[in-house]
Amino acid sequence: MTTHTITVEPVGREVECEEDQTILDACLRAGVWLPHSCTHGTCATCKVDKLDGEVDLGEASSFALMDFERDEGKLLTCCAKPRGDVTIEADLDVDEDMEVYPVDDYIGTVTLIEDIATETKRVVVELDREIGFNAGQYMKFVVPADDAGGEEVDRTWSIASPPGESTALEFHVRNVKGGRGTDGWVFSRLAEGDQVRMSGPYGRFVLKTGDDRHAIMVGGGTGVAPLKSMIKHALGDGEYEGEITLYAGGRGREWLYDVAEFRELEAEHDNFTFRPCLSEETAEQVSAAGEDAQGYGFGMVTDVIAADHERLSGCTGYLCGPPAMVDAALKTLMSLRLFPRDIYREDFFNEADKDGGGVKSPLIKR
Ligand SMILES: Cc1cc2nc3c(=O)[nH]c(=O)nc-3n(C[C@H](O)[C@H](O)[C@H](O)COP(=O)(O)OP(=O)(O)OC[C@H]3O[C@@H](n4cnc5c(N)ncnc54)[C@H](O)[C@@H]3O)c2cc1C
Ligand code: FES
Repeated sequence: MTTHTITVEPVGREVECEEDQTILDACLRAGVWLPHSCTHGTCATCKVDKLDGEVDLGEASSFALMDFERDEGKLLTCCAKPRGDVTIEADLDVDEDMEVYPVDDYIGTVTLIEDIATETKRVVVELDREIGFNAGQYMKFVVPADDAGGEEVDRTWSIASPPGESTALEFHVRNVKGGRGTDGWVFSRLAEGDQVRMSGPYGRFVLKTGDDRHAIMVGGGTGVAPLKSMIKHALGDGEYEGEITLYAGGRGREWLYDVAEFRELEAEHDNFTFRPCLSEETAEQVSAAGEDAQGYGFGMVTDVIAADHERLSGCTGYLCGPPAMVDAALKTLMSLRLFPRDIYREDFFNEADKDGGGVKSPLIKR
């Protein structure tokens, strides 16, 4: 395979990149951090200036990389592959709270796959060796080819277990009808004992352990996954002293999961509050089912947050889940006086979002 040299300015680091490899992949594997979020050409976080050389721009969404930007020589490192030696210039600032762990390939064995909520599975994978990652990061799975002629693809799922558990990784996967990775694999073919291939860790949606301001965490559906990793990490080692409130949104109780585990953590830690929120179930229905309705917020998660707080200035926000929910939560936090610079988001984009749903305000960190 032909390789080319990628020079990353302003630091002048040189990385070898194969012709069928993306620039981001080569750099992350070499331990050279480049900004990125979705790694699927949707969010535009990895956009950089090309100073020299030729690239194949790959499957960059035309919304994430617009025509005029292509003309200006910009590229998305998660999609672009070199066609000769290339020089790029990127914003290489790494959060102080983040360790840079080089991306690598892993083989794992599925040790647990169970239903935990409606259309939601927990998958635990025992890796062939230890992995280092920051709480909140994700892995990229290789979804095998299928009998219907679908080729191998990769799909990203966030690590829900804390970094201290470095060989058994937990994932929460929500089914998407017609989706290659979920409907076509995790929910139909994947079984305990199966071997899976994955690479990682990726992403910069990580817990800022050095920042002890009140963290307002909002997870829609399986958006709880990276937040669970952050919370267990923060509460587990005892070094994080900030307050954390987790809002977990679901239509009804059967759409929420790990409620008992979060309640246990809440009982054990004064600095953790858990607010499960039900948008389509009422207090009366919960009581009629014999459960204490006081343990829940009722309405959209954003309405519950707004009812709980007059202002959120001085807090930080961590938002994760379907893009529409993340957008709505962002507006709510900003209306409660939380600055965009203090809000971090992870949008669970899928293939359908490549048609334009992916690019959000450049003010908000991913
Ligand atoms: C950083 C990150 C972390 C994530 N973490 C999690 C997680 O922890 N848990 C979780 O459940 N999800 C997570 N996701 C979402 C996950 O990566 C997948 O997108 C999701 O699981 C659906 O994958 P899929 O292969 O089943 O669906 P896809 O194959 O992506 O399809 C999704 C939908 O789009 C349709 N579609 C497919 N191709 C196209 C096309 N070309 N045009 C229009 N529509 C199309 C399909 O029919 C389907 O309805 C994360 C996403 C990101 C970016
Ligand atoms: S990381 Fe490249 S577009 Fe999202």
